[in-house]
Amino acid sequence: MTQPFDADLLDALRSAHHIAVLTGAGVSAESGVPTFRDALTGLWARYDPAQLATPEAFERDPELVARWYDERRCSVARCVPNAGHVALAQVQRQTIDRGGAFTLITQNVDRLHQAAGSIDVIELHGTLWVWRCIDCDMETEERGPAFSAFPSHCSCGGLKRPGVVWFGEELPRHALLQAQRAATACDLFLSIGTSSVVYPAAGLIDQASRAGARVLDVNPQETPYSGRATWSLRGASGEILPQLLSAAFTAE
Ligand code: OAD
Repeated sequence: MTQPFDADLLDALRSAHHIAVLTGAGVSAESGVPTFRDALTGLWARYDPAQLATPEAFERDPELVARWYDERRCSVARCVPNAGHVALAQVQRQTIDRGGAFTLITQNVDRLHQAAGSIDVIELHGTLWVWRCIDCDMETEERGPAFSAFPSHCSCGGLKRPGVVWFGEELPRHALLQAQRAATACDLFLSIGTSSVVYPAAGLIDQASRAGARVLDVNPQETPYSGRATWSLRGASGEILPQLLSAAFTAE
């Protein structure tokens, strides 16, 4: 059953000048990609990020780290976008078609937004699909089967690392700048499927709110920002987002 949504929220979706969206792992959960912090199913409930997701971990044990990320790459290759990804791609098209601006910022490394048709996605934490040589910085798109050797090597002989951002590393400068610009320029900010505890990404919500944007939070759980959001919807994004779009755009 479609849940009733606040009329101001539906109106904001239809008429905002600039919609900025921040997504986290929750948006891909219904595609079968594990989140990080969910108590039983999250990756960080089963693995220690210090052993896998830091430059020091790669230095200490490049084989272990490369193998773990390559397994994630291969498992994400079997996943397809869900109704939440598709709804966000639709709202992007609708917003642009009516002359509005739309910025999709993601912390996800799976590229399922792009697979659903979203364009110009800002990837704050990089991607599993591009690996980079630690010596010559050459990047290679890796869409093939699992690597045959761990760690794999670049043609220059250097080790290849996954193109994701690890704990203790800076976010890609241009991506962060673009995201911050969108957060301060938008009049509607959607925070979808993120625990909102990892900075600087989580700071975008406050930035948007301080700059005057109204904020929608979609998550099955409370987040640190739920209480401060203009609207907070409890539930799975793959269910809520299509319902929201249908309420906003078919009831006109
Ligand atoms: P988290 O695992 O921290 O949070 C996922 C959020 O998604 C939680 O708040 C869940 O309640 C919510 N969630 C679960 N299922 C959902 C669903 N079906 N629909 C909507 N929401 C759902 O993931 P992120 O916030 O993305 O960084 O984590 C941020 C960063 O921390 C990640 O990019 C990663 C991680 O360590 C790096 O690896 C650098």
